[in-house]
Amino acid sequence: MSLESIKYKRGSLEVLDQLLLPLQTRYVKVDGVEDGWKVINKMQVRGAPAIAIVGCLSLAVELLKDNSSDKKIMRQEIEGKLNYLVSARPTAVNIKLAADELINLANTLCAGENVSPTEFKDRFISNIENMLTKDIEDNKAIGRHGCEVILKRLEGDGLVRILTHCNTGSLATAGYGTALGVTRALHESKRLEHVYCTETRPYNQGARLTAYELVHEKIPATLIVDSMVSALMRTRKITAVVVGADRVAANGDTANKIGTYQIAIVAKYHEVPFYVAAPLTSIDMSLTSGEKIKIEERPDREMTHIGEHRIAAPGINCWNPSFDVTPASLITGIITEKGVFAPNKLAEVIPQYQNKCSTN
Ligand code: MRU
Repeated sequence: MSLESIKYKRGSLEVLDQLLLPLQTRYVKVDGVEDGWKVINKMQVRGAPAIAIVGCLSLAVELLKDNSSDKKIMRQEIEGKLNYLVSARPTAVNIKLAADELINLANTLCAGENVSPTEFKDRFISNIENMLTKDIEDNKAIGRHGCEVILKRLEGDGLVRILTHCNTGSLATAGYGTALGVTRALHESKRLEHVYCTETRPYNQGARLTAYELVHEKIPATLIVDSMVSALMRTRKITAVVVGADRVAANGDTANKIGTYQIAIVAKYHEVPFYVAAPLTSIDMSLTSGEKIKIEERPDREMTHIGEHRIAAPGINCWNPSFDVTPASLITGIITEKGVFAPNKLAEVIPQYQNKCSTN
């Protein structure tokens, strides 16, 4: 059974506290938007899809408790709360796209003459709830497409060795995962020999979370520290790098966890294909290039300490950007639920799918 990072039933939301993993398994109650903002900002829940889903579900929980019978007030409050949730972490675009779609839905329901306040609330909440199943379906499709494209190019011994970075599995999504979903699909098809996961400094999502998921799923895996990537590619035949994304710009430039960019450079040098696995909700067609992506900078403490233990010399200055941007020219393909696309084809292909995405 895969790990359950989000426990939801109507009116009740709990998230697995990822700051305590892998040593403790404890769920945190999210009783509304204020709690939703806090668990996202503190990174008790993280990963672009999970941030969007938990943020929106926190609004669903709050809305159910709201006894308002005035649709206009409800609409206005929904917009304010969604914008507040978006501010919890700036780089991942999924929550912003979800918020925009939900604000459109609230506008439509508010304007509908035959829609009662109770129906407004019910339809709005159901819509948010659908995100959970849709995300898992999308991830499974990403897994299938990724598995196919990697197997198609396979040469040599016919076995697949994947390198991944950060955490993109069940913990970062509603389930199954994106880049880790591709790895999972390869494992299910019995073609995966091994997966290597980076530690992912400074916050160790690889060592704490991906390693935990891989052990839990009994997928053959080895942990490396971030500085071992070049040596790994030189000495072991890596079939492909597969990473996730927090925001993909229209030209294919991709923001993902800090360290992704240098892995892409090393992959290019060693002629290892480099794939980004991400749902359409991670693609921001409003940004022409990665230069326009806002990169979140996080507290120094994430670098100077591991848990309560200080590891850096007191007094040293720190720079802690949480993400970097990999230029499209280093990316072999973007694996989405609709297929695998060359980065320079996104502008042509994606709008037709995104226009069809509807919250209704
Ligand atoms: O800071 P985090 O842990 O939220 O960063 C997560 C990543 O960078 C993931 O690779 C990305 O969100 C994709 S998750 C499916």
